[in-house]
Amino acid sequence: MSRRRLQLLLLAAVVLVHAAAAAGRAFQIEEATVDDIQIGFRNGSLTSKQLVLFYLDRIARLNPLLHAVIEVNPDALAQASRADAERRRAASPSSSSSGSCCGGLHGVPVLLKDSIATRDRLNTTAGSLALLGSVVRRDAGVVRRLRRAGAVVLGKANLDEWANFRTIQGTGGWSARGGQGRVRLSYLLSLANFAIGFFHHKKSICSISCSMRFKHRISHCSCSEHGGRDTRDRNRWIHTLPIVVEFSGWDQTNGWVDKQGWPICRTVTDAVHVLDAIVGYDSRDAKATRAASKYIPPGGYRQFLKPDGLKGKRIGIPNGFFNFPNGTVQQIVYQRLLDTVRKQGAVVIENLDIANLAVIQDVLNNGEQIVLAAEFKSSLNTYLSDLSYSPVRSLADIIAFNNAHPIEERLKNFGQLIFLVAENTTGIGALEGAVIRQLNKLSADGLEKLMQDEQLDAIITPNDLVSTVLAIGGMPAITVPAGYGKMGVPFGICFGGLKGYEPRLIEMAYAFEQATKVRKAPKFLHGTF
Ligand SMILES: *[C@@H]1O[C@H](CO)[C@@H](O)[C@H](O)[C@H]1NC(C)=O
Ligand SMILES: *[C@@H]1O[C@H](CO)[C@@H](O)[C@H](O)[C@H]1NC(C)=O
Ligand SMILES: *[C@@H]1O[C@H](CO)[C@@H](O)[C@H](O)[C@H]1NC(C)=O
Ligand SMILES: *[C@@H]1O[C@H](CO)[C@@H](O)[C@H](O)[C@H]1NC(C)=O
Repeated sequence: MSRRRLQLLLLAAVVLVHAAAAAGRAFQIEEATVDDIQIGFRNGSLTSKQLVLFYLDRIARLNPLLHAVIEVNPDALAQASRADAERRRAASPSSSSSGSCCGGLHGVPVLLKDSIATRDRLNTTAGSLALLGSVVRRDAGVVRRLRRAGAVVLGKANLDEWANFRTIQGTGGWSARGGQGRVRLSYLLSLANFAIGFFHHKKSICSISCSMRFKHRISHCSCSEHGGRDTRDRNRWIHTLPIVVEFSGWDQTNGWVDKQGWPICRTVTDAVHVLDAIVGYDSRDAKATRAASKYIPPGGYRQFLKPDGLKGKRIGIPNGFFNFPNGTVQQIVYQRLLDTVRKQGAVVIENLDIANLAVIQDVLNNGEQIVLAAEFKSSLNTYLSDLSYSPVRSLADIIAFNNAHPIEERLKNFGQLIFLVAENTTGIGALEGAVIRQLNKLSADGLEKLMQDEQLDAIITPNDLVSTVLAIGGMPAITVPAGYGKMGVPFGICFGGLKGYEPRLIEMAYAFEQATKVRKAPKFLHGTF
């Protein structure tokens, strides 16, 4: 072998070793937490642009199958490059502004439900063709805050059209714009670092009565979407947090419907990052957010990520909430998890009765519908009239649009009965007011009283029943993964508490998560969609 040739070989080897080393240093994006990402940004192994490219590629490959995303943001890459440039500037020695740049969500991609208004090139349509091309005047409050925190809006996520408020049978993950979603919320997290959803009413996404119910409600709800009817309420892979921020999306209202965004994240820590970014007073919803803002702790929520957060907590288990048949996966898993909760130092108080539970259910099933329908019409009409451009300006227009597009809007399959009922309403009158007062009283005399009497820090529940009860009172809750049932369908455990209990709910959820580490990366199982 000639010397020259050897030199060349050596050179090639050196190049290969360097390349291998570089590849070894390459950032593992999948499953990276927000903290990992920020470390990656800082140590130079990752850029926001790479992150966005990774997810755009995934969406391009998987979305034809999943129908999880309605639109990707044509400006996402530009936003990512800008974030990278800001970070570089902040890191340069001559920079004077390093303190102000680059918090936890800076440069991190988020998917927003299509019912969350963005003032950019993305459409905001709640999945309906009727709203295509409409132009909002401003970002929703939650979006404004996410942008301020530096998050990159990756696109809009599919949903049940009109968040399932069009028909009584529900559209089961279908929307005219997004098609038939075949993705659980958990999978959404393989298409972005986090997502923001929110709930409109009891049939929304999960099978529960949740947060959108009452004025100033800071609630959340915990479930996943598009998993098929029967698995919806058991199917959580997600974390939810209540937030105290107004949502000025399409259901911008007179303050009656709950409008909070709802972070969907991989870990409690990620959810807390998002929560910290999106909570706060909002002058566009001054009354509600002023009331809610008093609960936001100085210094934010991160301080409550304590590994020993379950220690000394009093946790109630209402009767009937853990009634799984002996021998089922849920029963076995939840028993084990309750043991873990006890081992972590919590006092678990079982056999508690929430007063009026049956009455609450009854009112929810009946009177609430009247209120929701009335509220829906007035809030939707307000939203539509505020748009700077829209092909439709009222609920009546949308009903007419659906009638004119029966095939595209699948009128035969789904109808639009709730729309028709809502169109007949005339606002919140005496009847609606009475229902609201009744539910408020039921909540005060029920769960709120129980929690005070028993000095509980939280109640825990595996199912959404508690969310119903919590939502009435506008109370917060957080769900953490608990286990996996048949066919790997995930289920969760929910910690719920009184208004302002977010800090201790975070403590408990975080300690629980750290002690159990149940969550697995979502897998695209063959044949499950
Ligand atoms: C940078 O940080 C990431 C995330 O913690 C890590 O995986 C990677 O190995 C680090 N790379 C370098 C070059 O330090
Ligand atoms: C928004 O909708 C219009 C059709 O009205 C479409 O041309 C446009 O591409 C959509 N925007 C995005 C970002 O997909
Ligand atoms: C489940 O098993 C326990 C203990 O073996 C028993 O006390 C209980 O009655 C059983 N419950 C049901 C619903 O079968
Ligand atoms: C709406 O009101 C009209 C007139 O009272 C009635 O005929 C119709 O059945 C109502 N529609 C619905 C869906 O309730």
